[in-house]
Amino acid sequence: MMDTILANVNQKRLEQAADLLKQGKLVAFPTETVYGLGADATNDEAVASIFEAKGRPQFNPLIAHISDIEWIYDFVEVSPCAKKIAEAFWPAPLTLVMNRTSNCKISLLVSAGLDTVAVRFPRHSVAQQMIRLLGKPVAAPSANISGTVSPTTAEHVFQGLSGRISMILNDGPCAVGVESTVLDVRTDQPVLLRAGGLAVEEIEAKTGVKILFPDKDPELPRSPGQLLSHYAPKLQVRLNVIEPEEGEAFLGFGSVKNATLNLSEKGDLKEAASHLFAYMRLLDKTEYKRIAVSPIPMNDLGLAINDRLKRAAYPH
Ligand code: TXA
Ligand code: MG
Repeated sequence: MMDTILANVNQKRLEQAADLLKQGKLVAFPTETVYGLGADATNDEAVASIFEAKGRPQFNPLIAHISDIEWIYDFVEVSPCAKKIAEAFWPAPLTLVMNRTSNCKISLLVSAGLDTVAVRFPRHSVAQQMIRLLGKPVAAPSANISGTVSPTTAEHVFQGLSGRISMILNDGPCAVGVESTVLDVRTDQPVLLRAGGLAVEEIEAKTGVKILFPDKDPELPRSPGQLLSHYAPKLQVRLNVIEPEEGEAFLGFGSVKNATLNLSEKGDLKEAASHLFAYMRLLDKTEYKRIAVSPIPMNDLGLAINDRLKRAAYPH
């Protein structure tokens, strides 16, 4: 066990975080989606220790986080479609999967044996400042033990990873609350690998590009990390519930009665996404026998919310 520093963000702490990363240590940091568990993406040993600290399967690749859009040209082949989408949205809750260049300095462990690397330019200023101080891409999965509910506060990170990592930078709760949208943009036909914090509708509307869904076409690439059971609380989860049973906690949405907690009383999907993981963690600490969840619409951020709920409900 090592001592884990849990500190509020200020300039000194940011510099300390960047120094620890330079030494190959692990630092958890806030992004607008969820907290990430960062390591210098060009340092093999540091990246390997991410997998160890999280108990993450080695076949599941990591996202490399950048703080300047120009960095991508050093690491990946940027297709016209990738350039268009990156320039339209970055920094954003959006991750783009592209082919590695032949002299790509990002550790092969980040790619987990694939020819591709997933890159994200986060919007959160703390993430940006930390990456800029390091001056290199930061490999970071969500800062939780693999398979459990993702962390949207520094306390969540501390509960899962204290004693396993060097530092946690605290900057309060994450605004978006679900992980980034992951798109394969190797061709001019982008494929949705993971629904997330940037709505598909928004990407299509702003760029005029049509996004393909792998669950509708077996020929399309799939994400290696989309496990059936994931984001799982200890309690069982039951979905699309109108009337909860005796003994169930009721995670509501919209104008439902008797909700134990309500993701968004006004039925706002953005608000619901920002509450989802924190509320699942709160209910998981109660004496209820199960978590029953209201139906959530499938549009906009509802796609990401339903994806996380489906995996949380999968028997484990
Ligand atoms: O919002 C987020 O994306 C957060 C913050 C910290 O950036 N990160 C995050 O990382 O959620 P993680 O490791 O929990 O999820 C990354 C997802 C996984 O589903 C993984 O399989 C996929 O991205 N991924 C990473 N590299 C990939 C690649 N080269 N090809 C396809 N999928 C990839
Ligand atoms: Mg994760």
